[in-house]
Amino acid sequence: MKVLGLNVQHDGGCCLIVDGQIACAISEERLTRKRGAGGWWYSLRYCLEATGLQLRDIDLAVFSSYGDDLPAGFDGGLTAFGLRPRRSAVIDHHLSHAASSFFASSFDDALAVVLDGAGNNGDTESYFVCEGNRIERLGWNRDRTSARGVGKTYEAFTSFLGWPMMDSGSTMALAAYGSSERYGSLELFDVSGDQISSHLTEKYVQGVLEYSKKYGVDFGEPFSRGQTQVSRDAARFIQDRTERALKQWISGLVRKSGKTNVCLAGGVALNCVANEGIRRMPGIGSLFVTPAASDKGQAVGNAMYGFSVILNGGRPKSFIRDSFGKSHDEAEIRLVLERRQELGNNFIVEAPPIEFARVPAIESEVAKLIAAGKTVGWMQGGSEIGSRALGHRSILADPSRPDIQEHLNRRVKNRAWFRPYAPSVLAEAADAYFDLDVSSPFMLLAPRVHADKAGSIPGVVHVDGTSRPQTVSSNDEPRFRKVIAEFCAIRGLPLVLNTSFNLSGEPIVESPRDAISAFLRSGLDYVAIEDYLVWKAQPLWKNPARSESA
Ligand SMILES: [Fe+2]
Repeated sequence: MKVLGLNVQHDGGCCLIVDGQIACAISEERLTRKRGAGGWWYSLRYCLEATGLQLRDIDLAVFSSYGDDLPAGFDGGLTAFGLRPRRSAVIDHHLSHAASSFFASSFDDALAVVLDGAGNNGDTESYFVCEGNRIERLGWNRDRTSARGVGKTYEAFTSFLGWPMMDSGSTMALAAYGSSERYGSLELFDVSGDQISSHLTEKYVQGVLEYSKKYGVDFGEPFSRGQTQVSRDAARFIQDRTERALKQWISGLVRKSGKTNVCLAGGVALNCVANEGIRRMPGIGSLFVTPAASDKGQAVGNAMYGFSVILNGGRPKSFIRDSFGKSHDEAEIRLVLERRQELGNNFIVEAPPIEFARVPAIESEVAKLIAAGKTVGWMQGGSEIGSRALGHRSILADPSRPDIQEHLNRRVKNRAWFRPYAPSVLAEAADAYFDLDVSSPFMLLAPRVHADKAGSIPGVVHVDGTSRPQTVSSNDEPRFRKVIAEFCAIRGLPLVLNTSFNLSGEPIVESPRDAISAFLRSGLDYVAIEDYLVWKAQPLWKNPARSESA
């Protein structure tokens, strides 16, 4: 059976399941190169080309949207392009989120909790009981005022602090620099039974301003982007109150549902600090957070639900990794490198010329470069569907370099000073460095770093002593794991710094061309694309005002 999942609105994309296994999945933004791009035309074509299928081969195409429901019979126009008649279905946005997490987990049964900015018809939070291939909505937040939902409340503070509402990771990171002491016992959320809602009455900046006025509290000036202590305290306030409310609410849902396995989905589930608190709650057996928790996972949830429930195809294969993009072959890589070399080295003087070589044991070579203090773009196999780079579209560096965060922030990623970097660690060594007794393959937990180890890996320890490691086991990512193991053999550390291979404000790179473009526009030292190592050659001209190390 061949099932397509397609998301109509923002964070669009396509997922194609063939016989219960994801054959290809990609977000639209990776192809249009515009963050959060909606729709699915580019991603649909990509998935069909990658698998050699055509629309007439598809048994079912499943769509979702947010806001209003899609009309019955919606087929996205695909019937005109070859999809057989009556081969489409529409499912609810939150149902898709729940399916994307439960079916990606290895649980036989679970409580699936959806924490979303907005679903269909005013949904904000909902929860589902999942057993086998059955998913049933058990309840939802009946206060459908979206401003009072957990996601929109967090977004309101994020907007107030000066970032786009989808950039909640900045608020979470900044919170570690603040204290919520000045706010005393001030409440932001009310939790009662299976209901949860905030005191905000408006969305975005206005919501925070009104709340601040009503309760007489100071969050500082809007849009201060962490430059004042009070804004850091405001970030801590929203983070603390969100964590506390979620723990109380989910604890009640666990009791009500009788399930101890919990799956999370929806954009709020990317809050790895809150996830860490939830997984440690009494009553929770195991926690699974799907790596494509935001609406990027809608395409995945739609395809999985279509295969498993609508077509009764059984359980789709659970995730051991989330890289479902297509691999780029050697001919394409060589073409990009040779063309760039020919054009760039002779005519484009704004960027440095490149050199490249095919390296037989590229994992060892990259490990040596990282150990020598270099930063390396690492592009291997298919790209990840989730927001995190997990060893397929990553930038790697030595986590023991004391200046590595500042170097990456200023020369490569152009990120705010307070954003931390994460490590990828050999799974068997994770508990020696982190307070982590479970696997964390998708970087969605934030355990503490053991005090005696923090000094040896300053590049990946946040100011509050936590980190968000990716555990890399021997079966999951053999090539990436080899880089870490080779690095460990040289430096004695079983982990490398791993951040997503993209520049500020851009989606993660997808193609060799994207990778070379990002490489040339940043201070990255090397990029490894499959077996090819690329570096910046000595430019034909040199600015004498800049030192070699600047
Ligand atoms: Fe959503």
